[in-house]
Amino acid sequence: MNLFDVYPVNPINIVKGQGSLVYDNHGTEYLDMYGGHAVISIGHTHPHYVKRLEDQLHQLGFYSNSIEIPIQKELAAKLGKVSGKDDYQLFMCNSGAEANENALKLASFYNGKKKVIAFTKAFHGRTSLAVAVTDNPKIVAPINETDNVIFLPWADEAALEQAFAGHGNEISSVIIEGIQGVGGIQVAPESFLQKIRSLCDQHNAVFIADSVQCGYGRTGKFFSQDFAGVNADIYSMAKGMGNGFPVGGIIISPKIQPAYGMLGTTFGGNHLACAAGLAVLEVIEEDNLLQNASTIGEYLIKELKKLEQVKEVRGRGLMIGIELPEELSNARKDLLFKHHIFTGEAKPNVVRLLPALNLTKAHADRFLEAFVNVLNQ
Ligand SMILES: Cc1ncc(COP(=O)(O)O)c(C=O)c1O
Repeated sequence: MNLFDVYPVNPINIVKGQGSLVYDNHGTEYLDMYGGHAVISIGHTHPHYVKRLEDQLHQLGFYSNSIEIPIQKELAAKLGKVSGKDDYQLFMCNSGAEANENALKLASFYNGKKKVIAFTKAFHGRTSLAVAVTDNPKIVAPINETDNVIFLPWADEAALEQAFAGHGNEISSVIIEGIQGVGGIQVAPESFLQKIRSLCDQHNAVFIADSVQCGYGRTGKFFSQDFAGVNADIYSMAKGMGNGFPVGGIIISPKIQPAYGMLGTTFGGNHLACAAGLAVLEVIEEDNLLQNASTIGEYLIKELKKLEQVKEVRGRGLMIGIELPEELSNARKDLLFKHHIFTGEAKPNVVRLLPALNLTKAHADRFLEAFVNVLNQ
């Protein structure tokens, strides 16, 4: 049987990883400034993570949500503490798309309304509602098309006000990434997030903060929307949550009440997933990784802004976009094949940095040196 060929892949077989370094089957070392697409939050094969998963696997890998799962409650308590959202409620699932699907659905259960405001260049996932609020017609199948989504220009407060003025009583939710990832590392202005909060309050709409990529400490705060000093009603999370183990979830404001059967999943919140999630939070807390993401991120941004070939540097903490001119469109390939450094991409010609939150200064310098070399060759 062949694989269903949907991914354009690099001819590299990574077989081992430790911290921010990975190794291919020939033993070649690579610096991982991509974190396997923002997933590796505490570094590859972190010893505490490996031990916690190993211990859990020897005890029990899985049992369904039909029984008490104390480790889920333990994870919820730790997440409340580390994120500062103690009074929120946790629902666990398995991926970012699923988290957004549940968030949009829950919002509609809550206020009985149907329309969603989303923004240009947004990416929220590939399941039916998540892809419907994603601004990329190429990945929206005819069956996903709906009249319930209103796309507005990014960060346009007047357009947002107008949409609420026209459809306020129909708008169930507003979904926004605190920093657009696939959209090219676009930071949502704080005033825009504050405007969303106040309009949602006025019109009984739900503010959904898609934190799948920009959350979990990546920006130096637990949720990037925290910079605006406002709380969303629902935060969706996934990528960094399990450091590679498929874990997703939403945290839900106390104003939204649960009811039996409202949401559900077979795999979400299983014992192994919770062990992975707890290990990640324990390391984030113990090693002060929010502070490290902030410090190393600021350093990288400051150094990158000095480079005259760079058009623009955007982002916060360790979620950084470097926009390059057209003539430097080979930069990522050169970084990978000449310097053995993984990075991410976004259109047009943006190099995305999404490394582990415990990236060291030495590794940041190794990247900067190679990057300068690539720009000057
Ligand atoms: C902001 C955002 N939301 C949702 C998703 C979808 O997550 P998943 O691929 O785990 O379904 C992604 C994935 O890249 C994302 O970046």
